[in-house]
Order: sequence, then structure tokens, then C-alpha cells
Amino acid sequence: MSDAPSVERVSARETASRTPQQSGSFAEIQAHATYAPDNFWLHQAEHIDWFTAPKRATPVQATELGTDQGSWFSDGTLNMSVNALDRHVAAGRGDRPALISDSAMTGEQGVLSYAQLLERVRRFAGVLRELGVGVGDRVLIYLPMIPEAVVAMLACARIGAIHSVVFGGFAASELAVRINDAMPSVIVTATGGLEPSRAVEYLPIVNQAIALSTGSVRHVVVQDRPQLDGDIAEYANGATSRGSVDVAWLDWDELEAAALPADAVEVRAQDPLYILYTSGTTGSPKGVVRDTGGYAVALQWAMSHIYGVENQHTIFTASDVGWVVGHSFIVYGPLIAGAATVLYEGKPIGTPDAGTFWRLIQDYKVDVLYTAPTALRAIRREDPTLDELDKYDTSSLQAVYLAGERLDTETWRWANDGIRVPIIDHWWQTETGWPICANPRGVQQLPSKAGSTGVPMPGFIPRILDRDGNNLTEPGAEGNIAIQLPLPPGALIGLWGSPERFASSYLEEFPGYYATGDAGHFDDDGYLFVMGRTDDVINVAGHRLSTGSLEEVLSRHPDVAECAVLGLHDELKGQRAAGFVTVKHGRSRTESGLAIELVALVRELIGPVAAFRDVMVVERLPKTRSGKILRKTIRQIFDGDEVRIPPTIEDITVLDPLFAAAKRTRER
Ligand code: COA
Ligand code: AMP
Repeated sequence: MSDAPSVERVSARETASRTPQQSGSFAEIQAHATYAPDNFWLHQAEHIDWFTAPKRATPVQATELGTDQGSWFSDGTLNMSVNALDRHVAAGRGDRPALISDSAMTGEQGVLSYAQLLERVRRFAGVLRELGVGVGDRVLIYLPMIPEAVVAMLACARIGAIHSVVFGGFAASELAVRINDAMPSVIVTATGGLEPSRAVEYLPIVNQAIALSTGSVRHVVVQDRPQLDGDIAEYANGATSRGSVDVAWLDWDELEAAALPADAVEVRAQDPLYILYTSGTTGSPKGVVRDTGGYAVALQWAMSHIYGVENQHTIFTASDVGWVVGHSFIVYGPLIAGAATVLYEGKPIGTPDAGTFWRLIQDYKVDVLYTAPTALRAIRREDPTLDELDKYDTSSLQAVYLAGERLDTETWRWANDGIRVPIIDHWWQTETGWPICANPRGVQQLPSKAGSTGVPMPGFIPRILDRDGNNLTEPGAEGNIAIQLPLPPGALIGLWGSPERFASSYLEEFPGYYATGDAGHFDDDGYLFVMGRTDDVINVAGHRLSTGSLEEVLSRHPDVAECAVLGLHDELKGQRAAGFVTVKHGRSRTESGLAIELVALVRELIGPVAAFRDVMVVERLPKTRSGKILRKTIRQIFDGDEVRIPPTIEDITVLDPLFAAAKRTRER
């Protein structure tokens, strides 16, 4: 494929002085970013409003192994909410739709224009300021998909506070872990979220999390939703008093009505905008820290060049504000671009049917849909011939973007044939903040390839390394995907409170590179194929989970002697977590009885988001002679893959019952 980008074909001199935004082919843009990064990114920074415009782009600390990744635009100052809101209003676009909210759970629909959203943000920023929140203070946001989630995030940005949004599907103890790490003084929440099977009452969860935490929280601001029973007064009456410090539970609407609007404060480009927790290989989540300036510039670039979204467009990103996709492509990216963004509370199916996404596209004239492969697989399962699609006018739709997990080629083909717009797989992580590899449709649509996540985006220089860090240059060579340092603007600047963990998690394995934790290969045309994780992170319905944290929960059960949790292939969710446990001597337990208790324990301690349902009780777990559990072998047996038995296995007969159980499972 001759028109695939090839960095080597264009020299730095040819490109460095050209105007970057949307000029020339993608190959030229890519080369410009690679060979003249300072020049390239300073040009991109011109599309952002600064208090003080940066004169330098690239991080001072370049490729040295360090405990942070260096700061982009380090002499610039700005405010993120000004870039997301004020500047569009100032440009006379205050009446344009900014935030479209649609709840399939309540039937409520609403549109906030840029001017209206700005007004709400200014007021809520005033509320937070009144509560003593200032620059660098942390605010934890635990909200469902309601407009207040976006208002709260932008209000934090306005006053220079650092928000940390926690997904509503996490349980109290997971919330407590995040409170203890980020030490927020304020929690912003609602009386609850609405799931198809039940209402999720948030107040007891927040209350319990505060009780489990070490006591940084002073105020809880609650958005009262009429559909939920929660009564703020119950908590306001001292139910959460801890030691000498009382936690005040306050009503959002009352505070907002009385608040004095707050002006935007000037922050440095490298000041953190947010902390977002994500699963690592251990039980404790990693607090990914995102800066302000680099992120603003990167998202501005991504919106127009990757998604082709400008200020006249509407994007519907079907994710949750609790995930990075929500941060970058429900909230900040679309608003920086001046576009309209759809905030959807509901599922792709069952609320009420598999036509929901098409209805939203019709109602709001959506140009770009962004979702997870799981959502398409769910729609395919319900409506394989896409009859629902024909019921709606989806002619506004230009493209569908998918990420979060591997897109299987069957689903890709089905979607391409049925939806009849480009179906674009792209790959990135919470850490990178925006796509590492994609198809830059906004500037030049490259041919798509089944199974590939596209080509590297500017500033991302991924390489395939063997386990010793040697560069595997030949196409097709499978290995660890690592990205040359420095990472481009928008990528994480560190892990909250833990520079050592940042270095050990990402920088030490391959000096000079950021280790993605993913494995894959390039083809002859420079397209990357991401094949899976190299660590113990699994991906359930696009949600990243640590098997280590699931194992920690299972091993807390008094009857469990040993356990292994692994990600098995799942037709719908890509992977599902499955637990294999052995029972302590002297305890006789039925498999079903123990399974019920373990499933309940995971739900209680991690949350329903783990979707943990599979438990198998075994006599013994297969191990190497040095005692390492052979998780990969178990996975191969149950996924029906070719089983590679390591020569170091302690006792091969331990595998027999596993083979038999896997056969029974498949026959079921
Ligand atoms: N708050 C509380 N609970 C939540 C929740 C939230 N925000 N989101 C999910 N849950 C719960 C669900 O209610 C469910 O609980 P249950 O066991 O009591 O039924 C559990 O977590 C698992 O939920 P989910 O992953 O949504 O599975 P599902 O079987 O209910 O639905 C799909 C299947 C495919 C429809 C759903 O997984 C889906 O919409 N996937 C797309 C995910 C996505 O967009 N990911 C993007 C990440 S970038
Ligand atoms: P998260 O940080 O939750 O966004 O998860 C990031 C991880 O999801 C990546 O490291 C990959 O393992 C996986 N992932 C994301 N997008 C893709 C994709 N398009 N193809 C394959 N895996 C993906």
C-alpha cells in the first residue's frame, strides 16, 4: 500500500518550516513532528488560548531515564475551562450547542449552549472556591452520566483544582483507596446512577468510603436526582462524623443558586488538570497525572486531524466520564474544538433496544460515533442484520471510531458492511491521553486494514522490542510495544505521589522508552497490530482490570487456599475474569456455594464493573517447579488455544482435570 505514511520518505528540512495544521499529507505532518518537534508543537499550540504563550514546546528532560517524563510548553500559562468554553463564547458562538444530554434511563433530554454551560461552570467553580478549594487542591468526582459531571470537571479546571473522577461501578473500598491516595477535601456526587437492572444508590457508598478512608474529606456536594431515594439530610445530620472533623453534606442546587461566579485562574502548562486511576498489575490503582497545556494542545490536534471534528460538528462518545475516553472525547476534546458533545446515560442494547445509538445519531445529527468494540458486538448479537439501523435517519454519520480493547475482524467487517461508514480502530491508553495509533481521517483517510489499529500519530514513535530491549525492525516481528521518549504532549506526566512507581512501571524495563504493556507487530506498510497485554491487566467490555487485585479479594475468603484469576476469551466482552481456586485442607465446600460467596465478595470489594461470575474450584493449580502458577497454560486450556506446556512444570497430571473441565464448559 503505497500511500501509507512513511516517516523516512520526507526529510526534516522539507517539512519543518511549513504551516502544520492540515497542510499536506499525513506523512508530511508525521515527519514534521518527528524531526522538528519543537517547531511542530509550537505551531499546534497556536490553536490554544494562553495567558502567556509558550516559547518552547519540548520537555527540558528529553530522553533521559527519569522519574517524570518532562513538561511540554513549560513556559506557557493557560486555563483549560477558558479553552473549552470562554473562548467560544467570546468568538460569538455562545448560542451553539455544547453539551447534549440524553438519558435512556429517565427519558430526559437537554441541551446546554456554550454560554449556558459556561454560566453553570462559573457558578459551580464559585461553589468550590467557597468550600476552600484552590489551585492544586483535589476534588473527587463520583457522578453518573449527568451534565453535572461535566460541570464539576470544568469547574475544577477553572479554579486550578485537580479533579479525580471515579467510575460509578466501583465499590466503596475502591473509592476509599482513591480517596486515600488523592486526599481530596471535597467529594462531588449524586444520589445515584441508574442501571437497567437497578438504581445504584451512591450516598451509602460514598459514606462508607469516607469511613474507610483516612479523613481528608471535609465536604460532600450532592446532586439530588428525583429518581433515587437517597436523602442528603440523613448524612447531613452527622452520620459521617469522624473524630473531631465533621463532614458536611451539602445540596448542589442550593449551593449553585447562592454562588458567586468564579473567574478562570492562570495555571502553568505543567500543572495537573486531573488524576485518573487505572489498573496496574498490583492491587493498588495507578493515579495517572495529566498536565494542562500539553493535553489541551494534543486534544485540539486530535479532534481535527484524527476525528475530523471541528466546531460545526457533533460527536457522540459512548463511554463514561469515569474512563479516559470520557475525559478526552466526551468532555475536553470536543469542547476545546467548539463542537457539540453527547452525554448518554444508558447502554447500547436493552435501553430500550439495539437501535438506541442510531436514535441518538438521528436526534442530534451526530457526525462521529466513538464506542467500544463490545458495544458493537452487543448490537450485533441483538440485531445481526441491523434492522434497527434502517428505522432511523443516520445520514449525518461520517465515521465510527472504536477503542478500548481489540477489535475482532468479524465485528469490523460486519460493521463496515452494515453501517456503511468508515469503521476506524485506534489504540491508546489512560496513560497516553489520546490515540497512539489511528487513521488520521481528519487530514487524510488512509486505507483501513482488518485487525490493525492504524499508524502512529505525531510524536508517538512506537517500536517493537524483544524482552532484552532489542529493536525488532522487521515487519511481522512480534514483541513488546514501547514508545520512544519523550512521549508527546497530552501523555501522562507522572503517577500521583509516586515518581518511583512511575519509573518502575513504565521507564525502567526499556531505558529510553515508555513500556506500554501491550504486545504486537508492524506490517510492511507501517500499520500496527496490537495483539494483547504482556502483563496481568485484562480488559472486560473495554474496562481495564487488574487480575492481581481480583486475586487479592479471592484470597481474603477464609476457605480459599490459593487462587489465580485470568482473562478468558468472551464472545461479548472480549475478556471475562475467571477465578481458579483451591480450598484449604479440612474445609469441604461445594463449588457452587463457594462461587456464590466469591462472586459476592468481588462485587462488594471491587464493584459490579468487574463483572466477575466464573469460579472454578480445583484440587491443585498447575505450577512451575519454582512455584509460579501457570496462568497462561490455564488460559490456553480454557480458551481452546494451542497449549504450550512449559518444560519447568512441576506435575503435568495437574492439567488433566483442567482439560476435562474445559471440555465440559465448551460442550455446555
Ligand atoms: N454504575 C454502577 N454499576 C455499573 C455501572 C455504573 N456506572 N456500569 C456498569 N455497572 C454494572 C452493571 O449494572 C452490571 O451489574 P450487574 O452485574 O448487577 O448486572 C455490571 O456492572 C457489569 O456491567 P456491564 O459491563 O455494563 O455489563 P452488562 O452485561 O450489563 O452489559 C454491555 C453489557 C455490552 C451492554 C456493556 O458492557 C456495554 O455497554 N459495554 C460497552 C462498554 C463501554 O462503552 N466501554 C467503554 C470504555 S472506554
Ligand atoms: P485503558 O487505559 O483503560 O484505556 O486501556 C488501555 C488498554 O486497552 C491498552 O493498553 C490495550 O491493552 C487495550 N486497548 C485499547 N485500545 C485498543 C485497541 N484498539 N486494540 C487493542 N487493544 C486496545
